[in-house]
Amino acid sequence: MAGRLEGKVAHITGGGSGIGDATAHLFAREGAKVVVSDLNLGSAEVVAQSLNAAGGDAIALAGDVSRRADCEALIDGTIDHFGRIDVLVNSAGVTPRYAPVEWDFEQKWDWVIGINLKGTMMMSWFAVEQMKKQGSGSIVNMASIIGLVGYHDGMSDGFHPYPHSKGGVVQLTRDMGVGLAKQGIRVNSLCPGFAYTALTETLTANADTHERLKSLHPMGRLGEATEIASAALFLASDEASFITGVNLPVDGGYTAQ
Ligand SMILES: NC(=O)c1ccc[n+]([C@@H]2O[C@H](COP(=O)([O-])OP(=O)(O)OC[C@H]3O[C@@H](n4cnc5c(N)ncnc54)[C@H](O)[C@@H]3O)[C@@H](O)[C@H]2O)c1
Repeated sequence: MAGRLEGKVAHITGGGSGIGDATAHLFAREGAKVVVSDLNLGSAEVVAQSLNAAGGDAIALAGDVSRRADCEALIDGTIDHFGRIDVLVNSAGVTPRYAPVEWDFEQKWDWVIGINLKGTMMMSWFAVEQMKKQGSGSIVNMASIIGLVGYHDGMSDGFHPYPHSKGGVVQLTRDMGVGLAKQGIRVNSLCPGFAYTALTETLTANADTHERLKSLHPMGRLGEATEIASAALFLASDEASFITGVNLPVDGGYTAQ
């Protein structure tokens, strides 16, 4: 049976870890040729090697999505190697929890917005140039539940750059979805609840915080990266051919409350 992404070329930013890693593995199993890109080339290479060892066709590229020249080079590298780009998954993302402690509120805000929001826009800009030539393409952004609703009590003082960045990704998704619809390019996002990845390790390492986070999700648990990847596969594939501009919660009911 043909895979659900058979013959398609997919570029996954932040592909060296967490949701991007799980998505790269699932897409490759479904027949996609995969470009795994990451700020951390070593982690991208580990993932690409794992895909190739399983019979896939993957390469690793290094790039910082907050840098315009890197974004252009990442898309050029994809086209140079595979000749096209059918799917872009913008999974690269950061939380200010991992910012240098000496940074003040403005430096943290610029850093998070520069990667989560501007990085998503710039990668999409260069991918769309090629997708327009092809007359087709699918972009899947990683927004967040915290792009749809405010952070729960105790997580933000109102100036938290993460929800600000993800709210921007939600609206960017709607705007690109509408703006590119006539050109055969679909743009959607996933809004994951809290999931077990490196991004949330410092939260889940604390037993009290972990329990509280679980209790905030009606299903009483956090998500797995593979559960987010499954939704990315659907939105990326032709099964979602009439879906664009949608921000899909994958959150165990968090935003339905
Ligand atoms: N894990 C969660 O609970 C959760 C929930 C909602 C949304 N998300 C979003 O999902 C996406 C993936 O997160 P994850 O949980 O897999 O995190 P992760 O930390 O496991 O992976 C993120 C990857 O992005 C890479 N990266 C960071 N900065 C980069 C840059 N400037 N350029 C290129 N790559 C860069 C990192 O090296 C890392 O490999 C992020 O956008 C995140 O905000 C995660």
